[in-house]
Amino acid sequence: MAEKFNRATFTRNFLKKITRIKNPDEMLADAKSGGLEKTLGVWDLIILGVGAIIGSGIFAVVGIAAAGSADGSALGAGPGLVVSMIIAAIACIFSALCYSEFATMIPVSGGAYTYTFATLGEFAAWMVGWVLMLEYAIGFIAVACAWSNHFVQFMAGFDKILPAWLAHPPAWLVNDAFAAAKIASENPDVFIPKVFGMPICINMPAILIVLLMTAILVKGTKDSTKMAGIMVFVKLAVIALFVLAGAFFVKPENWTPFAPNGAEGIFAGAFLIFFAYIGFDALATAAEECKNPQKDLPIGIIGSLLVTTIVYVLVALVLTGIQDTSSAVPMEFLKAPMAFCMSLHKMDWAAGLISIGSLAGLTSVLLVLEMAATRILYAMSRDHFISQRFQKIHPKFKTPALLTWTVGLLAIVGILTLNLDVAAELCNYGTFTSFIIVCVAVLILRKTDPDRPRPFKVPLSPWLPLMGIICCGGLMIYKSMQPSGSALLFPVWLGVGAIIYLLYGFVKNRNNENKIHKEIVELKKQEMKR
Ligand code: ALA
Repeated sequence: MAEKFNRATFTRNFLKKITRIKNPDEMLADAKSGGLEKTLGVWDLIILGVGAIIGSGIFAVVGIAAAGSADGSALGAGPGLVVSMIIAAIACIFSALCYSEFATMIPVSGGAYTYTFATLGEFAAWMVGWVLMLEYAIGFIAVACAWSNHFVQFMAGFDKILPAWLAHPPAWLVNDAFAAAKIASENPDVFIPKVFGMPICINMPAILIVLLMTAILVKGTKDSTKMAGIMVFVKLAVIALFVLAGAFFVKPENWTPFAPNGAEGIFAGAFLIFFAYIGFDALATAAEECKNPQKDLPIGIIGSLLVTTIVYVLVALVLTGIQDTSSAVPMEFLKAPMAFCMSLHKMDWAAGLISIGSLAGLTSVLLVLEMAATRILYAMSRDHFISQRFQKIHPKFKTPALLTWTVGLLAIVGILTLNLDVAAELCNYGTFTSFIIVCVAVLILRKTDPDRPRPFKVPLSPWLPLMGIICCGGLMIYKSMQPSGSALLFPVWLGVGAIIYLLYGFVKNRNNENKIHKEIVELKKQEMKR
């Protein structure tokens, strides 16, 4: 009987501990004592937002979303891509409203991770932090490799000017092992070095860009935003060039049939193109560095999402108006659709500028994704989930330098080992999950802490957060029903996260609680002596 009672007590204590909620006031106090500099204004936020959002999604993924894959294994939306884009944008806007409510109410580092700690407790917060690593860290790795592909294509354009090793570098120096194996199977002349039968590939451009981004982020958030600003200007300018110049080549007959693969193609397109919207939530992770988060964050989050939706819809209309996407398309269209459409009409100069714009676009996405990954880990280290050493702020640059370098080096390990097709899909799963949790968390905190001041409130609650849950959940379920490696790997990622929490995060938090308890007892003893 006694043993049964102990077990029950143990279970109750365990459950109490893993659902321990961190009070938002405690979070705000922690943030006040932290050392991150407040440098970001509303324009910096919009630049960071657009910088984070517009990247490989619109410069590359859009071709596959419109036309399907070259081997016919994936269906395309055709001209209905416009509808796919609007569906993905709607799924995001509900979550963006919820992010804005939280970011203005608890303007501290960590985004969805922090909001979960305030509502669902310790274990759920750890899991959300872990899932956010899929979005930001794995997304960072996937975009770094997309950057490498664009860079290699760009250099190939200087065929006659650059030495051959630079214009056409060996495949094993510019690809991951999985992509290199695919290239070698299609072309047996391609040399891939092997050690004990294992292909050795070092994606050099991806590694170098990660090192560069890390160094820039360590140097300072304000400098990083300035650099993102230049790149946002360049990418928006080339997209405007594409839309304005491309409008003259649109043939309205290409817009019919509007949905060659019906609703299935449109939803498949919406899941894929969702990747193009990822990034607006990264703004919430930088809340602690905002000068006036209550006013500026909702404008930054919702404004950058609206700007990009308009840009995307215009690109989709022009793209599907120039290229017939209801039948097979050339491979070049799938890789770099906008540049391909320009070269199709003998506008090679415009295609070249679009390549430069896409490199700029991907660079700014990299900058913000890495910044978001470090800010979440920064918040997690403050909560004793990972080492306190990562709390250290660089004395001169006022950034978490050790943590930023650690994220950069881990990304390089990922570049050397991961299968990037699966990585990009996993990134979508991670993002959908975090969006759903933020919508749920808004509903919970409205019930548990109704009196907390909310400078921005999601209108029509609970309906709009519920719509966010339904839209993101629906697209995620739709994708899981189709056979893919990522649908199997996502639960594995969650399982590994839960094990790490039990073996490390849980223990570390309890050790910290014991330490605080001992300090309190010691203080009381000293007071009694006096
Ligand atoms: N939205 C970002 C991109 O399209 C992740 O690259």
